[in-house]
This record gives sequence, structure tokens and C-alpha cells, in this order.
Amino acid sequence: MSSGILILFVAALATVFFYSRRHSKLPLPPGPSPKFFTGNVHQLPKKEPWLMYTTWAESYGPIFSFRVPNRQFIVLNSLQSATELLDSRATTYSDRPRRWMYTELARRNLTPFNISFTHPYFKTYRTVLKASLSSRTIRSYQLLQTEQSRVLLDGLYKSPEHFADQIKRNSAAVVLYLAYGWKVTQNDDYFIGILKEGSEISAMLSQPGRWLVEAIPSLRFLPSWFPGAGFKRVAFDLGQKLRRVDTIPFKWSKQQIRSGSYTHSFVSTQLLPEDGSTVSAQQEEITKWCSQGIYAGGVDTTSSSLTSFVLAMVLYPEVQKHAQAEIDAVVGQDRFPTFNDRDKLPYIGALMQELLRWAPVAPQGLPHHAMREDVYKGYRIPKGATIIANILAISRDKEMYPDPLEFRPERFLGPSPQLDPRKFIFGFGRRACPGLHFAQASLYLNIACILAVFTIAKPLDERGEEITPPAEFEDTGVLWHPKPFKCRFIPRNKDLMTTLSQ
Ligand code: HEM
Repeated sequence: MSSGILILFVAALATVFFYSRRHSKLPLPPGPSPKFFTGNVHQLPKKEPWLMYTTWAESYGPIFSFRVPNRQFIVLNSLQSATELLDSRATTYSDRPRRWMYTELARRNLTPFNISFTHPYFKTYRTVLKASLSSRTIRSYQLLQTEQSRVLLDGLYKSPEHFADQIKRNSAAVVLYLAYGWKVTQNDDYFIGILKEGSEISAMLSQPGRWLVEAIPSLRFLPSWFPGAGFKRVAFDLGQKLRRVDTIPFKWSKQQIRSGSYTHSFVSTQLLPEDGSTVSAQQEEITKWCSQGIYAGGVDTTSSSLTSFVLAMVLYPEVQKHAQAEIDAVVGQDRFPTFNDRDKLPYIGALMQELLRWAPVAPQGLPHHAMREDVYKGYRIPKGATIIANILAISRDKEMYPDPLEFRPERFLGPSPQLDPRKFIFGFGRRACPGLHFAQASLYLNIACILAVFTIAKPLDERGEEITPPAEFEDTGVLWHPKPFKCRFIPRNKDLMTTLSQ
């Protein structure tokens, strides 16, 4: 380490030490014992931190704390603690923590996920996204969702072994159309390719433990040419690439609008207001970032959930039979389920709730940030602390969901249903997910249509005997996907399937 870095390192430690001694009136929530300099870094896994948090919650209770250099974490493991802080005290907890590499150095501070609660754009983002993704507004995309759902069914029929890729294509196609009016027509779609590159870069820049500057923020002041400051050049280059990812689809959409031959989309609605008013440069910038929020928030989340649905059907054939019986009774066997059938299919509705609970897509949501010091249940929540809502622990709370690892849609039916997981799966306070209606609409249609025409079955071994895949998940940054698994899509309504190619 060069002497410059050493001086900055000592200065950073001194700041942390001084800061940690300043407030001592009330205790922090309990938690695992930290080491003097590095806190709890040595106990944190590189992957799936929510599993460790859930184990710690068993020892330390519904609210615990731990620290890493330069950051105090508070983890909320019960629905009560999460709603009492993040919902009821939303003005204190709706900011996002700064991530030096990703948000600041690569300049991603204006994305809807990262924008500060106090930034003048914040309220406009929320208003625009909520209005454009409201349950009423998204009805105008039902035709597109239906078209893409048919493409998915066709793909599952023709190459069932690639079901996970077909599902990803479906989510990306729907979201690209919603955001920009871009129609995906082939598997190696150009926009899907660049957006995939974008999410890989974002994951690299946000990877916990990878960048020293997160632990010693003063390193960001080093000039880029300084020995050891290569991370600044990396952040700059990758930030540039990400800007390209944001700009290409947005520019394409603008060009279509200008040429007059555009399809209705989020961007067209924003850039061509109904009252005919002129859109300012600032409104245009807001539209660009919000369209980025739609594709970045909408693709991997819904595809992960739909892949978990396939896994759940493989593992719980009796649930699948029950759902298919409901579809056959309500919809019949000579047409596909539509959005109009949704209210008449309560078991499918309960299956979706159970899917969101059983395989939470974002098991620790996104981090919130305490904007001022607070007190909760006799504990001090320091200003600047990063607050994690442990959605995984809440969804597996045995008091709310007996036998939480079992996939049981019946939980949400009958006279005393268990708590609706949509109360927490989509996050909290003023940062709660604006895409929840759109995500559920996509999930509903795909689930109902897949079950109408296929039975999803366990894979067979070389002797022709069924193998049960394990219910295992892996993380990709903040999201949780099922680990790759095999299954069979057995057509159960060939007549309906043949209508796809007509
Ligand atoms: C199963 C599907 C989905 C799940 C489980 C999910 C979950 C979440 C969660 C937990 C958050 C963080 C909330 C918080 O900080 O407390 C979030 C934020 C967000 N989601 Fe979703 N999401 C899903 C689908 C979507 C879709 C389809 C879109 C867009 C079309 C979307 C757009 C966003 C955006 C823009 C944010 C950032 C909000 C902000 O920071 O103000 N999400 N989502």
C-alpha cells in the first residue's frame, strides 16, 4: 500500500472511531460481536447475505445491528419492525445509502433506485412511475402481454429445455415494449443484449466487498493517475458504458416519435403530453431515467418469479392439478385464459401470492438510509445507518406462515387467510416498488396460460424414472433466482397449442 493510501486509511479509521464514540446514550440493537477495526466483515458471506441475517435474527430477535468499516447496518426481521420504521416513519427512512463506486463514481445517482429522497427529481419520479404503472394505466399493455405470452407458450412447446431463456425473453420483451415501444422479434434481440450487459456491469460495480472505496470513502479524492486509484478509472469507464445502455433505447424511442411511426409506450406518453404542451429538457431527462427504472426493475424480477413458479409446479404436482382444474372449470378448454378471467380464478390468485412469498425475488429488498438519528424500542438508530428489511425472514415467519417452506396457496383462501405477502414483498415506505401491478399482471397471464396448455413435470433419469430437483436458489446481486434445474413441459391441450401457429 502506498503511503498516500495508508494516511487516508488511518484518517478514515480515526473518523469511524470518533463517530462511534460520539453517541452513547442508548444502545444499538443487539448483534454479533464486531472486531475493533473491521466490525463484522469476517462473518459476512460473499453471497446471499439474507441467509446469514435470517440465522442472526434467530439469536438477536426482530431487530439487530452489525457494522462493516464505515457503515452501520440495522436489520429489521419482523413485519412489525419494518412497517413501524420504514412505512410509519417514511420521511426518516426513505433515502438510499450512498454507494461510492456505483452511485457516485460511476454517476448512477439519478436512477430511480438510487436517487436521494431529498433530490428535487425524487417526487416527480415517484409520481410519474406510479401513474404510468397504475393498475388502470397498464391495461393499455394487455394486448402486448397477451401476444408475448403466446410467444412464450410457443417457445416452451418447441424447445422446452430452454424454458428459463424463454421466460427471460418474455419479461424483457414486455418491459422493453412498455418502456420504449420496442418490439422483440428474435431471441438474440439487440436491445436485450445491451440491457443484459448493463445489468452485468451494475452488478459488478455494486458487488459487496469488492471495492475498497466503500470502506474508505476518502479514497475517492485520489487523482485517477495515483497508484492504487485504478478503481476510479474502472468506475469512469463502466459508468460511460452504462450511460450508453440508458441512452440507446431512449434515443431510438425518441426518433420513432419524431418520425411519427411510433408505438404507444411510457416514453411516448411522457414526451407527447395529451394537452399538447412542450416538454422541457428537464422533463425529458426525467423520462429517460424513469424508462431506465422500468426496464432495470422489471426484467430480472418477473423472470425470476416465473422461473420459481415452474420449480414450484415441479415440486408440488397437487397444487398444479388444483390450479388446472380451476382453469378448466372457469375458462374451459377451447380458449386461453385472459385478463377478464382473473377475478374468477381465486386459486390462481392465491398461487401467485404463495409464489411471491415462497420465493421472494428480492429477499432483502433494497437498502434504506436513516436520514436522522432515531429511537426504536429503546434502541438507537444512528443517523446514516443502512437499514435492511429482511423480507426473507418475514416471509418465513412461522407465526404468520406455519410450515413456511411448504408451497401452499390454500394459506390465502378461506375464512381466515394468512397475511397477504404483497404487504412486504414489494418493499416499504416511499421507496415501495412502483411496478407491482405490472409484475402481477404479467405473472398472472403467464401462469394461467402455461397451466392451461401444459403440465410441468419432473425430469426423468436415464432409466425413465422421475428425479426431484432440489428447491435451491442463488443470488445475482440483490435478486434471488432458482438454481438451474430440469423439467418437462407436457402438452395437455394440443388443440389450443395448434392455434398458436395459425
Ligand atoms: C415480482 C416482481 C417484483 C418484485 C418482487 C419487486 C420488488 C421490489 C422491491 C423489494 C423494491 C425495493 C423497495 C424498497 O426499497 O423498499 C423495488 C423497487 C423498485 N421496483 Fe420493483 N419489483 C418487482 C417488479 C418490478 C417491475 C415489473 C418494475 C417496473 C416495471 C419495477 C420497478 C421498480 C422500481 C423503479 C423500483 C425503485 C423504487 C424506488 O427506489 O423509489 N419492479 N421492487
